[in-house]
Amino acid sequence: MLTFRMIKSLTQCLRGYRSSGLRVGFVPTMGFLHAGHRALIDESVARCDITVVSIFVNPTQFGPNEDLDRYPRALEADHELCRKAGVSMIFMPDAGEIYPPGFQTHVEPGPVAEPLCGAVRPGHFRGVATVVTKLFAIVQPDVAFFGQKDFQQCAVIRQMVRDLNLPVEIVTVPTVREPDGLALSSRNSYLDPADRVRARCLSQGLLAAQVAYGEGEQDSQRLLAIARSLMNEVDQLQYLELRDARTLEAVQGLVEQPAALCVAATIGPTRLIDNVLLIPPPTALSDRELELVSHVMGRQATAGAQGSPPL
Ligand code: PAJ
Repeated sequence: MLTFRMIKSLTQCLRGYRSSGLRVGFVPTMGFLHAGHRALIDESVARCDITVVSIFVNPTQFGPNEDLDRYPRALEADHELCRKAGVSMIFMPDAGEIYPPGFQTHVEPGPVAEPLCGAVRPGHFRGVATVVTKLFAIVQPDVAFFGQKDFQQCAVIRQMVRDLNLPVEIVTVPTVREPDGLALSSRNSYLDPADRVRARCLSQGLLAAQVAYGEGEQDSQRLLAIARSLMNEVDQLQYLELRDARTLEAVQGLVEQPAALCVAATIGPTRLIDNVLLIPPPTALSDRELELVSHVMGRQATAGAQGSPPL
């Protein structure tokens, strides 16, 4: 496994591999790697000849009062996880390498970045879109892997790749969870034991709504009420919303198209997000809608899965 801090040496090395026709997979991360990141890496290693993992805590996607300075880091453990997983290269630039003096061009996502986290974290997706575009330009991967855990991030990236004709395939990997349902996140390390217990209620609420939907409840208000009724233990529910799984437009009335039930909440000092997909049974969907489902969910939808592993 090779580690690069400089763009030039990484691109030189990658050029050699690419000219021999090897397929390059890319997993962008901010480090403090866990089994969720590992699932993305495993998917890349399985599908590609070369897997590049970037570890870069991107300052432009953090707001002024957010956790950039205390974002957890564990470089040695990250290396170990990557080495064991069969990663070919780690790219871990410092901020000056990605944003040199005089840097002034950004990628501005459209309406897909406005609701949900976009509304609570102004500028966040502009920072994500900009850094991911730069990382794509540096690594030039054939395929890039993103987690469903950050559902809106996946939607923003897919839209950006379409709009800007970026020559990269995007694969979404299902959310990896703790045994009690909590979605893995680097930020879970902020939770003290009592907060950790309270954090369970997010996935429990989402799961309850997903189960009700599976049993035939299609009314969006009732589904939201089911989820909300189990989320009383959070300190602040920033949003709990049902959104069209592709466009992220608000879902009103009945859930008849693939939808995402998305939540963000604070528990003590920690902000957590999670989501589940509500996918109509395949027989209820037209061919066009089935195509959309597989677009949103990657290969698992075509296999008829529910979109999210059981909580
Ligand atoms: P980070 O939070 O480190 O996440 C890196 C990737 O891991 C993202 O695609 C995220 O969705 C995925 N991931 C995180 N937790 C997961 C889980 N429990 N199950 C499955 N996948 C999970 O997301 C970012 O970094 C940054 O915004 C980045 C894309 C690197 C741009 O800076």
